[in-house]
Amino acid sequence: MATEIDVRLHVNIDHVATLRNARDTIYPDPIEAARICIAAGADGITAHLREDRRHIRDADVAALRKELTSTFNLEMAATSEMVDIAIKTKPEVVTLVPERREERTTEGGLDVAGGAVLRSQSKALIGAGIKVSMFIEASAEQVEASAALGAKQVEFHTGVYAHHALGSDDAKRELDRIQKASTLARSLGLEVAAGHGLTRENVKALVAITEIEELNIGHAMIADAIFMSLRESVLQMRSAILAGRA
Ligand code: PXP
Repeated sequence: MATEIDVRLHVNIDHVATLRNARDTIYPDPIEAARICIAAGADGITAHLREDRRHIRDADVAALRKELTSTFNLEMAATSEMVDIAIKTKPEVVTLVPERREERTTEGGLDVAGGAVLRSQSKALIGAGIKVSMFIEASAEQVEASAALGAKQVEFHTGVYAHHALGSDDAKRELDRIQKASTLARSLGLEVAAGHGLTRENVKALVAITEIEELNIGHAMIADAIFMSLRESVLQMRSAILAGRA
């Protein structure tokens, strides 16, 4: 389902799993989160199965596949283990991302131009009928390399843009870089996505780049969800306590 302005919004639900795993409880359930996002109009769900399984776990991936009739975008490193899981799961999209154990989140783009392993891993995914998206820096070199490997989409890492102050020269320079890379990507027949560090504030200037067709957003949305409903949580706990005393 496309939104009115024709930008697909995929919600990354990793941090619902982060909260669940912090206590090893069964709540909050990322699958229930996915259901709510889709019911609210999100076009798809994104989840990152990391090598260390720090948030999304294998069982979540299987459950998401079973649950979702809209787009399931599975983010993963280009390793044999992950490619095997993806081919078994068959998400609509696999986004290949770089991964380092010690990083807090995906810190940079994938070096598609410099990576030989990627060729065989992306070929296997494409052969299984899965759309491959490359999470890259907004550079001509990485865009061209992604097209050469048969990717259908590139996702530009917006972390640097998000890090700069809104409206600053640095932010404008970064937007200009993303604009140029987006124009090139489209001219090569690639779909253009963007993600990382996006918020309700910084997304506005980004989507002025009309080549961007998809956004993958997680951390800020899950953070927003807390404050958008914490009041309701207090009210409901108060009423549960009162009911117990009645
Ligand atoms: N896109 C990709 C490829 C990512 O790795 C991530 C983070 O997992 C995101 C989008 C979402 O970033 P954020 O959680 O900062 O919104």
